Amino acid sequence: MSNNKNQDTEKLFKGLEKSYGILYMLLLTFLVFLGTRYVSTLDYNNLFYSPGMLAAATTMRAELPVKKGTTTPPIDIVKFTSIDPALVEKGKGLYTSNCASCHGETGAGNGAAGAALNPPPRNFVDLNAQQWKIGKKITEMYVTLQEGIPNTGMASFSTIPPEDRFAILQYVHTFSPDYPRENPDDIAKLDAKYSLSQGVKAANQIPVNLAMELEILDYDTLKQDLTSVMNIVSNDNTDPGAIQFKKIVSDPNKALNSLASNMAWTESSESFQKFLSIDPINKGFKAEALRMSPEALTQVQQYLAGVFAKNRV
Ligand code: HEC
Repeated sequence: MSNNKNQDTEKLFKGLEKSYGILYMLLLTFLVFLGTRYVSTLDYNNLFYSPGMLAAATTMRAELPVKKGTTTPPIDIVKFTSIDPALVEKGKGLYTSNCASCHGETGAGNGAAGAALNPPPRNFVDLNAQQWKIGKKITEMYVTLQEGIPNTGMASFSTIPPEDRFAILQYVHTFSPDYPRENPDDIAKLDAKYSLSQGVKAANQIPVNLAMELEILDYDTLKQDLTSVMNIVSNDNTDPGAIQFKKIVSDPNKALNSLASNMAWTESSESFQKFLSIDPINKGFKAEALRMSPEALTQVQQYLAGVFAKNRV
């Protein structure tokens, strides 16, 4: 009887062991599955290029968002600050899509997205409900839209074209008869601040990674430029800057790559010193780089900046 019981438990354990085995296999398969899914999301280009060069060319630079260059046409501020029903109507639509979520459909500062904000969105109807920080005139609110209010929910809306911003603000002014109006002086000041009557030009902006993908900024060109820089520097045994440079590098290749990755050091010997002071060993420099005399520092900086500039890195 007790023997029987022992056998039963043994069987039970065997059974359990078997099912654990199966569970284990299932788990393992699942993990392998997850692993392959993950690997397939990796960017092979970045895995297989020579890390030094590519890091220098891409990841070490701050990536900026793509932005189409714009030319803001010159605008007549006097016209856009004088209330115009057509503009108010246009502004209503823009207000609803851009501002109402926080400032409320009726301008009472009670939009759903604004409920959790501290400070809360401004009340555009009851002008004395809160203290205004920049101002209630259209010319002042224009500044708010251009700059935003730092550290609050009020972001900059500088991407909305100036004319549309004036339309929105004309509409905001319909929320209360008590809004102060701008005088010619206010208008002249705003114009001087943002040169609105002249029109503003902004260049196209594109991230380095994308530029390389599109072959606008050619990886090979960059590589060639760097190769010529390396040749010039390693063959130069006369320029005091070149001689100094060789004394402070452990890996010239790496050092020149690091230098190419962020050219802020070309500005002054102070910025060069700053560049060297952050992680010099990993950048291919010796610790001696931190103990250079100010003269030597300037010599190296000026020499390298010259060579880099001549070779268009
Ligand atoms: C994500 C929420 C949010 C959106 C969207 C938003 N605002 Fe605001 N806004 C705020 C907050 C929060 C404040 C209060 C900031 C403070 O008190 O410093 C504010 C303040 C303001 C002020 C007052 C500035 C002053 O002088 O005190 C103006 C004017 C303004 N917003 C205009 C607009 C307009 C016009 C739009 C649409 C183009 C807009 N806001 C969209 C959150 C928002």
